[in-house]
Amino acid sequence: MEHAIADLGVQVEKKRDDLDEFFDEFINSKPIFNDKSVLQSNYNPDKIQHREDYIKDIAKILAPALRKERPSNLFIYGKTGTGKTTCINHVLNKISNIAHTREIPLEVISINCKLKKVADTEYRIILEILKQLGREMPSTGISTNELYKELYDAIEQKKRTVLLVLDEIDSLIKKAGDEILYNLTRINPELKQAEISIVGITNDLTVMDTVDARVKSSLNEEELVFLPYNAVQIQDILGDRAIMAFHSEVLDEEVIPRCSAYAAREHGDARRALELLRFAGEIAEREGSDKVLPGHIDTADKKTERNRIIDVIKSQPKQFQLVNYAIIKTSMKEKHNLVTSKKTQIIEPTTTGAVYDYYNKVAKELGIVTLSLRRISDIIIELEVLGLINFKIVSKGRYGRTRFISVGLPKTLYKEVLDILREDLSIS
Ligand SMILES: Nc1ncnc2c1ncn2[C@@H]1O[C@H](COP(=O)(O)OP(=O)(O)OP(=O)(O)O)[C@@H](O)[C@H]1O
Ligand SMILES: [Mg+2]
Repeated sequence: MEHAIADLGVQVEKKRDDLDEFFDEFINSKPIFNDKSVLQSNYNPDKIQHREDYIKDIAKILAPALRKERPSNLFIYGKTGTGKTTCINHVLNKISNIAHTREIPLEVISINCKLKKVADTEYRIILEILKQLGREMPSTGISTNELYKELYDAIEQKKRTVLLVLDEIDSLIKKAGDEILYNLTRINPELKQAEISIVGITNDLTVMDTVDARVKSSLNEEELVFLPYNAVQIQDILGDRAIMAFHSEVLDEEVIPRCSAYAAREHGDARRALELLRFAGEIAEREGSDKVLPGHIDTADKKTERNRIIDVIKSQPKQFQLVNYAIIKTSMKEKHNLVTSKKTQIIEPTTTGAVYDYYNKVAKELGIVTLSLRRISDIIIELEVLGLINFKIVSKGRYGRTRFISVGLPKTLYKEVLDILREDLSIS
């Protein structure tokens, strides 16, 4: 028995040695990060760069609320990571503070519709609005009609302006339909003393196409489009954060320019740039390097890009996967070299017509319902929004213009993506 314990002691000590060494090395190495949290996407920057004009535009549109007048409804569109949420939150904070100190009756209700259990259904979102207006309601047992009456009553309680901000509104429409927006935009004319304005924000315009035209025009009383950042602007944004995030002299001077160039490659996405920088820092740390080098950005880029693409492709509905498959397959051509008589595979842009024919053929073989050309065109647009494909319009002189579709995947991922699609679609 004593012997066994002694043995165990030796073993434990041996294991501790290995781990000890690892942890010792970790503690003794120069730390890379000073404060990693400033690179996280929920961090609210003190300084918002290159968005002065948009911030002013939003402020001008919402300012009437401070004079107890109803601001126009506002619709904000822009690709992901272009600073929409950051800018609106900044203006909302300012306007709420001013209203508070000057005792102006303004109520800001801000909802991220992507959050689960908040905006999954019409019922849930009204509950959330009521909650933010200070009325907790039971989560079941009341009819939707009654809930709307309660909402009307809660808003109308006193003379005030209510700003209802629905961020990621596409998510709400996808989950709950456009009925809720129809009803919300209809509340205002009914109100006697209070007023409500709606701010809708999205990075997905294709969903807005499914919305009732009256609702759309009512939400669009004012519209702002956030353009993507360019690489230089992203450098400025990263520079500010990097000073706080990393210890001094840890970043090689090429790191931020490279990170910005990568993030601006598809469209200037500040979130992706920050993620890339954080990930590169983590890779450097794990390697025991005391500096973040451009090569760490390259590794981070490959890993995040691959993960993002694979995640998106795997989570798509079958019809999307099949259209994607058809795009890749119709883009792959064999080129015959007449001299060497060797065949090589090349990738060329394809067209909607070719994709549709191929899609139809495979869908029939697989026994999947075939969708109309119109619907396939919509799916193709959605694939572009996701960054999986790119469009190129080519002018054909007097024959008009043709839209070409090219695959947006890195070459190294073609095989892996095709394998995933084949497996998910059961294509042999
Ligand atoms: N101009 C800026 N200055 C500083 N940080 C910024 C700026 N723009 C964006 N960011 C940062 O980039 C990240 C993404 O920005 P934000 O969430 O505002 O994008 P978004 O347009 O709302 O994207 P999505 O459509 O995906 O919701 C955030 O972490 C934010 O702090
Ligand atoms: Mg956002």
